[in-house]
Amino acid sequence: MGTERKRKVSLFDVVDETSAKIVKSNGLGGLAAMSANSSINQWNGRPYSQRYYDILEKRKTLPVWQQKEEFLQVLKANQTLILVGETGSGKTTQIPQFVLDAVDIETPDKRRKMMVACTQPRRVAAMSVSRRVAEEMDVTIGEEVGYSIRFEDCSGARTVLKYLTDGMLLREAMTDPLLERYKVIILDEAHERTLATDVLFGLLKEVLKNRPDLKLVVMSATLEAEKFQGYFYGAPLMKVPGRLHPVEIFYTQEPERDYLEAAIRTVVQIHMCEPPGDILVFLTGEEEIEDACRKITKEVGNMGDQVGPVKVVPLYSTLPPAMQQKIFETAPPPVEENGPPGRKVVVSTNIAETSLTIDGIVYVIDPGFSKQKVYNPRVRVESLLVSPISKASAHQRSGRAGRTQPGKCFRLYTEKIAAMLSVSQYSLMKQMVSPCLEAQKAADEAKARFGHIDGDHLTLLNVYHAYKQNNEDQSWCYENFINHRALKSADNVRQQLVRIMARFNLKLCSTDFNSRDYYVNIRKAMLAGYFMQVAHLERTGHYLTVKDNQVVHLHPSNCLDHKPEWVIYNEYVLTSRNFIRTVTDIRGEWLVDVAPHYYDLDNFPQCEAKRVLEKLYRNKGKDREESRNRR
Ligand code: CDP
Ligand code: MG
Repeated sequence: MGTERKRKVSLFDVVDETSAKIVKSNGLGGLAAMSANSSINQWNGRPYSQRYYDILEKRKTLPVWQQKEEFLQVLKANQTLILVGETGSGKTTQIPQFVLDAVDIETPDKRRKMMVACTQPRRVAAMSVSRRVAEEMDVTIGEEVGYSIRFEDCSGARTVLKYLTDGMLLREAMTDPLLERYKVIILDEAHERTLATDVLFGLLKEVLKNRPDLKLVVMSATLEAEKFQGYFYGAPLMKVPGRLHPVEIFYTQEPERDYLEAAIRTVVQIHMCEPPGDILVFLTGEEEIEDACRKITKEVGNMGDQVGPVKVVPLYSTLPPAMQQKIFETAPPPVEENGPPGRKVVVSTNIAETSLTIDGIVYVIDPGFSKQKVYNPRVRVESLLVSPISKASAHQRSGRAGRTQPGKCFRLYTEKIAAMLSVSQYSLMKQMVSPCLEAQKAADEAKARFGHIDGDHLTLLNVYHAYKQNNEDQSWCYENFINHRALKSADNVRQQLVRIMARFNLKLCSTDFNSRDYYVNIRKAMLAGYFMQVAHLERTGHYLTVKDNQVVHLHPSNCLDHKPEWVIYNEYVLTSRNFIRTVTDIRGEWLVDVAPHYYDLDNFPQCEAKRVLEKLYRNKGKDREESRNRR
């Protein structure tokens, strides 16, 4: 088997033996003429399946294939390279395979193989893309091609290409600071700047200095990529020309008061009046998307057999993988022969903007909003905000309509991305103001039942316990205004954490529920994880975040019956004022115990908190001395 495997020559010497042969042999009349060598899959030694060849034909029509040779030459000559190409041009699926074909990933002693990594900002993309690539390479997912996302590592000793979230690569860097298991790192979707990508950029710059053999490819769908060029010392930039069909763009005459309702109406209109072709609707979050899916299915159902059937599929990041795959299914066939054609309607968050490509979309409905992760470097917290999308996003979204044939994009806003702003404030307010006061009262009462005076984290824990005691019952959740899905996923995360702890032989220990220290220990444990997200109550009556001294207020949703001197917080919410949300009372003494390196007063800005901490340190010193004297 070994001799049949593709010959590997030193880094980039041979550009691409396998595919060159296939191209040639196709010219000679297909499979029969192919050399014995290239009909064997070099990664697992098995003969290629017919499906491999079928997919290969399709892959070759992707725009990036036009530039394969050029790409490999530029990469050979440079340590870092930036590649820009429209969504759907084949960056994510093809470039890692080009790299694998050309780079010698064996270690000098030939004992093991190094890997090619391709990072994705989203878990969904990492999973679905790696599955697709495993199929394209005719190997089993988890073996030669794998993925790694938080709590789930689907890769193994044979893995040569791994898709992983930016966060996972960062985590790996903690134990493998030079990322020595990788030969080439591909940072995909670099325009989607998250906290993890930003940190990765800095880290990789350092690693590249120390690892001359490592290569970095930065890929992006938008031209903002030019900015990265400056960052990586003028690395060469390659542009893949797009292959888009024309997209007609329609705007509404007046700003829409309710974009959700407008989006649903537009779907129904397209389904009634427009020629065949699938529809992609952009909305902002899970709840809104599920709501829209139900309403669309119902409205189309009410129209009877005047119109064709619809398959309405949601897409958002917390959807289970099997459900996510549904977006790739084809539209339903007509109910009767010669009846009106069926249509697929995908209702998605901005995942479908650049991370995932769905073929067959002809109509795009863009209300102009998205939930965006806004990273505030001053307080080191990411928050999600519903905000109007940028021009670049609007362009990306409309582009999704022209992938396979000329398309249409319906923008539910006026041409003037000023009008938008007023709509956005309206929608933000609607989210915050409860529609019905009576329901609000009942919800408040339910909340009070679980409330814990020491903080919101403990309140959440009470909710979780009650949920388990009520056998995870869905109607119990409904009656108590609790999001069943959120609790189910919390339970999931808990189980995953237990498994991880078991894998690392970490002891699971909890304080007895009847012990006085039960809640105290939980609060200390929370602090050990969140010591960087602490605020101190100043004499002026407001809170200041520790070290960065931002004035913040407790979010009105908190359960506390007092204003604690010190709190940890989960979220920093930017609205009319700066709020901290999900807060729990902690003790200043614990700070000095749990994270003395962080609460090192030498590099602490002058503020009340510093003076309080100084006192706490002095007390701690005194305590120690006293106990020594006693002994
Ligand atoms: O990364 P980029 O947006 O440039 O493109 P890609 O994700 O590599 O997608 C290229 C093509 O691969 C798409 O047009 C789809 O036809 C196909 N693809 C697929 O069939 N299934 C997937 N999960 C991902 C991509
Ligand atoms: Mg991509």
